[in-house]
Amino acid sequence: MRKPTVSANWKMFKTPHESIDFVDKLKKKPLDGEIVNLILFAPYTSLFEMGNSINSGFQIYLGAQNLYWESEGAFTGEISVNMLQACNVKWVIVGHSERRTLFNETDEIVCRKALFALKNGMSITFCVGESLNERESNETESVLRRQLGSLLSRIDLNQLNRTIVAYEPIWAIGTGLTANVEQISQAHGILRDQLRESFGEVADKLTIQYGGSVNENNCEQLSEISEVDGFLIGGASLDVDQFSNISETIGKVKKI
Ligand code: PGA
Repeated sequence: MRKPTVSANWKMFKTPHESIDFVDKLKKKPLDGEIVNLILFAPYTSLFEMGNSINSGFQIYLGAQNLYWESEGAFTGEISVNMLQACNVKWVIVGHSERRTLFNETDEIVCRKALFALKNGMSITFCVGESLNERESNETESVLRRQLGSLLSRIDLNQLNRTIVAYEPIWAIGTGLTANVEQISQAHGILRDQLRESFGEVADKLTIQYGGSVNENNCEQLSEISEVDGFLIGGASLDVDQFSNISETIGKVKKI
């Protein structure tokens, strides 16, 4: 049985003050770290203070939403692994569809970021997902295999063990549309098979999250899909009550 991981992707929301307020409230929730892992992917400006606050014995991990693939240098506006690690950031998202589409990140750029983070000891949430157009043209499997394959061919087992794969169909992100049970099971099955083909039975221990309009109302049904090991949540993660209810729900469903 895989312990579920629920991640909040706050995107470009929350000031430092709002972020700390969220953490303070989350700490008071009756969430059991034994049954669910939590990761908060916060904006850069919140990370330092959150790192101090989270560090004080509470089981939440801190993540960044992006990074650059050089240690330091003249790269105006970019952020390095060292800077993130100094804020107690353990995780980073790479390959989110908003980065791929709005900021022109190709598979090659996504992989460079992923490899740099992994080589420097960080853990990554590696996002993959098809557009509506690709789904309608029956290209879902080839898109997922291309995106994940670009990473798998370049990492070792130790690095794989620090990787969460997030399946996020682009058409379901922020739209209120959720992929249905069959679509999710099928996509997660494709990803699990591909992991198995590259790394054998270790694949069965890895976490594959679903993301795309997850909320309090649909999380129970989504949690019941055996191949879903957690969620990457945007909109609903901004509200501490919703985030904690979703985390509690999947924790309970997977524990049974
Ligand atoms: P959403 O975003 O939950 O608002 O659809 C998910 C994501 O972008 O990771």
